[in-house]
Amino acid sequence: MIVVTGATGNVGRPLVRALAAGGGQVTATSRGISAADVPEGVGHRRADLADAGSLRPVLDGADALFLQSGGAAHALDPRAILDAAEAGGVRRVVLLSSQGVATRPQSASHGLLMRSIEDAVRQSGMEWTILRPGGFASNTYAWAEAVRTTRTVTAPFGDVGLPAVDPVDIAEVAAAALREDGHGGQVYELTGPAPVTPRQQAEAIGEALGEPVRFVEQTPDQARAQMLRFMPEPVVETTLAILGTPTPAERRVSPDVERVLGRAPHAYTAWARRNAAAFR
Ligand SMILES: NC(=O)c1ccc[n+]([C@@H]2O[C@H](COP(=O)([O-])OP(=O)(O)OC[C@H]3O[C@@H](n4cnc5c(N)ncnc54)[C@H](OP(=O)(O)O)[C@@H]3O)[C@@H](O)[C@H]2O)c1
Repeated sequence: MIVVTGATGNVGRPLVRALAAGGGQVTATSRGISAADVPEGVGHRRADLADAGSLRPVLDGADALFLQSGGAAHALDPRAILDAAEAGGVRRVVLLSSQGVATRPQSASHGLLMRSIEDAVRQSGMEWTILRPGGFASNTYAWAEAVRTTRTVTAPFGDVGLPAVDPVDIAEVAAAALREDGHGGQVYELTGPAPVTPRQQAEAIGEALGEPVRFVEQTPDQARAQMLRFMPEPVVETTLAILGTPTPAERRVSPDVERVLGRAPHAYTAWARRNAAAFR
């Protein structure tokens, strides 16, 4: 049985679907999960990653664990979760980490925190695989309300391209690493197939809707003021640095999705078409 944490999230949801479609036994977990969130035949249990004790009964009898920290990276005790997993019988763990561990190693939010979770996974007695995605295509859900109401995207750094990754590709790589042999000890960097700029993303959403979407470029200060309303300052500064002055490593397209899946990663345009309803 495979336990999927963050099963209602951008990666967890398609991962549960992929594992269930492959015929495997799956338990989906998050704090607020309900039967409506999972395909028929998939078990679901509520648990809080910040309380390893709540995960114990979920992990009991599991063979493999997909671990993601969601919004709880600060609060979770990775060693306690991994101990509970091992005690429950888990032999394989796949961690959803972040490219920031390699590209922003000194950043408390984007590098050091996930590094400490990676270290705990590496030091566990289980077979491990670490996934380090760059920015998700689904981050542009943040534009959905403005696109729905005014057909406008407002964002900074309109012409800086990054290879945004489709969460479905992350989920399929995770499913392979959870089910198949040969991924133990691997660190996969996951990106999309090409850099895409915010201006091009707005255009792709417009094409998916069949109506033009206007792009309005914010100054970095305007973006900072907006982001500070819902993110702590160090997170805002590192996020702005990645979006505005990405390092060569953050701009680079990784071969790892294709290496694992035997197909190219999905382009942002495909993500926009599949998710057009959110912007309609
Ligand atoms: N977004 C990016 O660009 C990006 C880039 C690199 C890495 N990542 C990593 O990818 C992961 C998912 O990112 P996302 O922003 O796309 O998240 P998301 O899809 O919004 O998913 C968050 C998931 O975690 C669950 N969750 C949150 N807090 C929890 C807690 N205390 N206990 C149990 N479950 C909890 C949520 O469900 P409930 O609310 O029901 O608990 C939800 O299922 C994060 O770990 C992030 O570090 C993201």
